[in-house]
This record gives sequence, C-alpha cells and structure tokens, in this order.
Amino acid sequence: VNVPGATDLRQFIEILDGAGELLRIGEEVDPCFEVASRTRSEAGGRNRALLFEAIGGYPSARILTNALGAPGRIGLSLGLGPQQSFRQVKKAVRERLEHPIAPTCGTPTRTERETFAGTDVDLTMLPVPHWSPEDSSRYLGTWHVNLTRDPVSGERNVGVYRMELVDATTALVSASARSHLMAHVRRAEEGGEALPMAVAIGVAEPLVLAAGMAVPPETDEYSLAGALIGAAVPVRPAEVVDLDVPQDAEIVIEGHLLCRERVPEGPFVDYAGVPRGNPSALVFKASLMSMRKDPIFRGAAIGFTRAEDHLVYALLASVGCLDFR
Ligand SMILES: Cc1cc2nc3c(=O)[nH]c(=O)nc-3n(C[C@H](O)[C@H](O)[C@H](O)COP(=O)(O)O)c2cc1C
Repeated sequence: VNVPGATDLRQFIEILDGAGELLRIGEEVDPCFEVASRTRSEAGGRNRALLFEAIGGYPSARILTNALGAPGRIGLSLGLGPQQSFRQVKKAVRERLEHPIAPTCGTPTRTERETFAGTDVDLTMLPVPHWSPEDSSRYLGTWHVNLTRDPVSGERNVGVYRMELVDATTALVSASARSHLMAHVRRAEEGGEALPMAVAIGVAEPLVLAAGMAVPPETDEYSLAGALIGAAVPVRPAEVVDLDVPQDAEIVIEGHLLCRERVPEGPFVDYAGVPRGNPSALVFKASLMSMRKDPIFRGAAIGFTRAEDHLVYALLASVGCLDFR
C-alpha cells in the first residue's frame, strides 16, 4: 500500500503506534542522560521509536526519539507499507524526488498554539535533553529544521544545523562554511544585518530528510519534502520573521542570527561518536516561541552504532544527496 505519508508528527506517531513500531514510556524519565541512554538501549535491542510521556521537571511535555531508526519506519514516514527494506525505501525516495510538490500556505493562526513573545520567551521551558556526559550542555537542535531566506535573492532554505542551548533566549548554531545557511549569513552580514531565522522542532519526518539533503540553492526543500511524502507540506507565515514555517510543528522558535557574532560551541558528541567543538558558532537570539498543547519535543541520540542519523545519512548517500563538507 502506498498512500501519502503523514504531514505532521502526531499523525506519524499514530502510524508508528498502529504498526507496532512505537514504545510509549509512561514512567518519569530524567532528560539528563536517561532519555539518551534508553534510546541507545532500544536502538540496540527491539529498536522501536520511543515516546517519553513523562519528563522529570517538564509537566505535559513529551519527547520522541529513534523514530527513523529502521528502514521500515522511514518507509512508514513516506506512506509506504510496513516492513519495507532499505532497498525498497531507497527506490521510493529516488523515484519520488523526481516529482516535487510545492507546499500549501495557510493563514497565520494562534488558535491551537500557545505563543510566548518578548520577555516571555524562555527556551529553557522546553524539555531539552542532555544527550551525552561528554556534551558541554544541552542540545536544543538535533533533529529539527532551520529556516532562512537569502537576503538578496529571497530564496528560502530549509536545513538541519545543530543548536546548543545557552539561556532563555540564546542558542548557538553550527553550520559548515559551504552550507546555504552560511551563504545567507554572509549576505546578511555584507549588508550589516542580522539574519532572520525560524527553527521548527517536531515536524513531518520527511521534512528533516529533505532538509538534510545536499541540493542546489534554488531547490526548495519544502517541495522535496512534499515529493517524499506524496502530499504538499502545509506551511504558514511565521509571526515576526518573513519566513514560512511548517503549519503544525510542535515547537516553532523565531528570531535572528546576530550580525558578525561568533562564539565557541561544544564539545558535542557528533555522528562519529567524537566530542567536537566549533570555535566560531553563530549566535541565535529568539524573540518568539510557540508550541502545540502538550508539545512533543523531537531529538536524536547520536554518536553510537545503530543511531538513527547513520541510517538517514546512508539513505541520503544512496540517492547521491549527502555532503558533509
Ligand atoms: C540530523 C542531521 C544533522 C545535521 N547537522 C548539521 C550541522 O550541525 N551542521 C551542518 O553544517 N550540517 C548539518 N547537517 C547537514 C546539513 O543539514 C546538510 O549539509 C544539508 O545538506 C545542508 O543543506 P543546505 O546547504 O541546503 O542548508 C545535518 C544533517 C542531518 C540530517
């Protein structure tokens, strides 16, 4: 059966549940190391997606990990039938990428979301796990999307760039010099300006796949995500920055990357399992954040054998869309 995949995270969680690919963890877990260690043991054992439903210190928040940690689950995110092999998923991805589907734009709405602006913005309200004892601190962005626009051409980019939580309104962003995000930053800085950026955490999984793909700057990752899902990704205009964000994202943070500010970031245990720091990370200042009721934080435990990012990188490499430079 091939039907369109889920266009938001909650629909996908239902699909995982229905396919027996989700373990709900009802007892309280500590976001400091325990979420990651439980994810590592599950990935090395029965290997289901994990939905942590009680997070110590964060009433009503939930955390999803390991959702794409098996080829069959990546297949489910694309709307393929259950138990697809890596080869079947790769074939579907290759075929679907030929048929981009533009996103559909709704209207701005705060009805189903709780919004915090100005001095009410507090990123530390989010249940951000401390993933590894070797990490310098908690990482807000491990499986999310960063949205920016080229200040000159207006072209948008959707990418995945790791983000370290610093305080209520600050996070650091590590982007490689060749990335489209850095190209946008350089152009903004040439004009002496901060670069507007939105971050969406808890989105349709194929959007993260599309964001992680190395594609030419003019290729719209939202349309590639639509291709992967087989249906348009619903987006809406952000509230305070001129960017489109996924309509039903669990968490959206809007703000700016400061002009010509660079600070050291990390160390962070990266995909290779090696703690690495970035001497010149970008500084993100949040001015608004919004979330769905009982938000589901999505993050990834990485840097070990069977980590879900390895499978995703293997898939992206197999379709010629992986570039680590
Ligand atoms: C889970 C995941 C994490 C990633 N983390 C980073 C990162 O921290 N920094 C970076 O430069 N690229 C990172 N990438 C890769 C970029 O998303 C990738 O280079 C992408 O092709 C960038 O595309 P863009 O240049 O169109 O933004 C990550 C990819 C994935 C899937």
